[in-house]
Amino acid sequence: MKAPLFNYPSYQYEVDDWEFKKKGLLNRVNKSKFIRTELQTFETDRQTNNKVYVRYFEEFLRDILSEFCQEAGVTCSMTDAWCVKYQKGDQQTVHNHRGWGFSGILYVEYDPKVHTPTFFIAPWNDPRTDTTSLSFPSNVKEGTIFIAPSSCLHFVHPNTSRKERIVLAFDLLPDLPSHQSINNDDK
Ligand SMILES: [Fe+2]
Repeated sequence: MKAPLFNYPSYQYEVDDWEFKKKGLLNRVNKSKFIRTELQTFETDRQTNNKVYVRYFEEFLRDILSEFCQEAGVTCSMTDAWCVKYQKGDQQTVHNHRGWGFSGILYVEYDPKVHTPTFFIAPWNDPRTDTTSLSFPSNVKEGTIFIAPSSCLHFVHPNTSRKERIVLAFDLLPDLPSHQSINNDDK
């Protein structure tokens, strides 16, 4: 019989009342300054938004984040949030965010007919074939949120459409148990 040693903790949710919330979100996003550096094959406000989304977005996602925290068995805080825009031909190369914690993606402008979700690379090779496994969330549409460990390598295929693809990304850092925390007040 199968006896799995590990269970990979990834989560998917849908934002309710999406059309209404999308407008409020895009109003805020459109006030941001987007840049494309030489190394970036996409536009982002990550370096320019001074983390102004963090509190707003944490509130925006309050119900979903609390469901996530319950399911994942953590308490955590959002430490960063930023927006990424993919024009035709734009993509994102393989990267991860940090060694621990969780990272999430909210699909804001996304047409499942022409856009693809974020692809994730399995943290271990398939032991039967010694090959790298790729996977991606299913049924992604606007308002979908996908959360995975920040350490998981991921990438975005080139946008082959003239329709812009926009996502909001965020990092969630779990609170460590007090005996592990450097901000431990219990002396
Ligand atoms: Fe990422």
